[in-house]
Amino acid sequence: MGFDRSKFELDSEQRQQLGYQLIDRINAYFSSLTHRPVQQPVELRGQFPPTPQLPELGEDASRVLDSICTDLIDQGFHVPTANYFGLMNPTPTYMAVLAEALVATLNPQLATQARSQLASRLEHETLGWIAQRVGWESENFGGTFTSGGNEANFSGLALGLTHRFPNIIEDGLLGLPAQPVFYASAESHHSLEKSLGLLGLGRKFLHRIPADHRAQISLNTLEAQIQTDRAAGLLPLAVVGTAGTTSSGAIDPLSALADLCARHHLWFHVDAAYAGALIFSNQHRALLAGMERADSITLDPHKWLSMPFAAGVLLTRHPALLESVFGIDTAYLPKSSSGPLPDNFRISAQWSRRMNSLKFWLTLRVHGRVAYEELIDNQLQLAAYLEEKVLATGSYTLATPRALTILNFRARLADDLHLDDEATATLHREIVNQIPADGEHWISTTRVHGKSVLRMMVISYLSRKEHVDALVTKLHAAAHSVALQK
Ligand SMILES: Cc1ncc(COP(=O)(O)O)c(C=O)c1O
Repeated sequence: MGFDRSKFELDSEQRQQLGYQLIDRINAYFSSLTHRPVQQPVELRGQFPPTPQLPELGEDASRVLDSICTDLIDQGFHVPTANYFGLMNPTPTYMAVLAEALVATLNPQLATQARSQLASRLEHETLGWIAQRVGWESENFGGTFTSGGNEANFSGLALGLTHRFPNIIEDGLLGLPAQPVFYASAESHHSLEKSLGLLGLGRKFLHRIPADHRAQISLNTLEAQIQTDRAAGLLPLAVVGTAGTTSSGAIDPLSALADLCARHHLWFHVDAAYAGALIFSNQHRALLAGMERADSITLDPHKWLSMPFAAGVLLTRHPALLESVFGIDTAYLPKSSSGPLPDNFRISAQWSRRMNSLKFWLTLRVHGRVAYEELIDNQLQLAAYLEEKVLATGSYTLATPRALTILNFRARLADDLHLDDEATATLHREIVNQIPADGEHWISTTRVHGKSVLRMMVISYLSRKEHVDALVTKLHAAAHSVALQK
């Protein structure tokens, strides 16, 4: 090919040859996903040769590309396979993968409208589609794509704080009349504590409210805690409702939380990072009733909506507030947007900014909302099937009522042996460690109500009954094998 490694500039033939080489690997990988194990058997893992020396002079592109594809695929942990029943990490749609290549190629700088007119418009259009399904009129919302739920939650809490104290962005925390307090369920995501720490408010001022047996926030306790905090001179500021808890998939009573926030004049943020996807299902979106009354919402397309990382979304019913929190001027930034939309750097924590929306835009244009409706229906049915099959083994009991596609089980052996929670957690770890040993599947343990449970979920659009059956067989065998050792 006459390849000059000292130059980044490849000729058309080289670009095409390397591109075809990669797309062939990607295509073969996608074809393998219905039967691919999550990872290598335990004895074959970790055989990747390190490259401790900084490559001073390059090597042949085709050979390096081929070898890194082989290593990453052979030695990889394959979240996209149909056999992955782990955390909220999906199989990416193929259209999204193509969109990612296009975005990297065009490299639009979404910080300003002037350098990304169409790209920014498409991003705004995508946010508009999401807002419509939430039930918001397109003129009355603001929003931004984020790196994920963490950033979106951080931004939502910053909006709530600035809403109550408009000068806080300039003046800092010293002028506050009292210590603000935020509320969320004991089952909510740790990004909320992280956010309060980074906002300078203190992690301990996220008051976690106990959850009931369905892992939903207890409204009476929340109400009582707000009164207690007020009486103690604290300043209740916001409530976060979770739509789809990380451990169990539970949805807090969003309408009741919206009522409570209205009554107490509190900011209402909904962390719908996972279950926000339900807005795309006509049949199931009612499960999110009340979310449309939120002041701000987090929704992650890189969870249930089958997008590759990174794709998070923050939406708010207070568009002007975004500029109050994130707007800034310096000499090298344009003073105002050249079009009807605000510059993205003024409405988000990011400056240089990737186009994280195109993958979702393209997937929706090619497959349409109805494809998501079917995906959600199928996965809810498959999760019900998983529940039925696991219970039928007789080795496990349901630890939390199933809300969506996440399941929490407890090993029956823990009850038979009258184990305390610490011993149960050890038993669950022993079971879970047997599942990934041959590399075929992957599930995890977590705690719900502070108690150890086995956690698994349907997340890949490729998973079918046969994948569930194989997992259940393994779960049954693992319970037996652990029982024999007791
Ligand atoms: C309920 C919930 N909120 C927020 C997050 C954080 O999202 P991300 O990982 O996209 O930052 C997660 C992650 O699993 C989550 O489950």
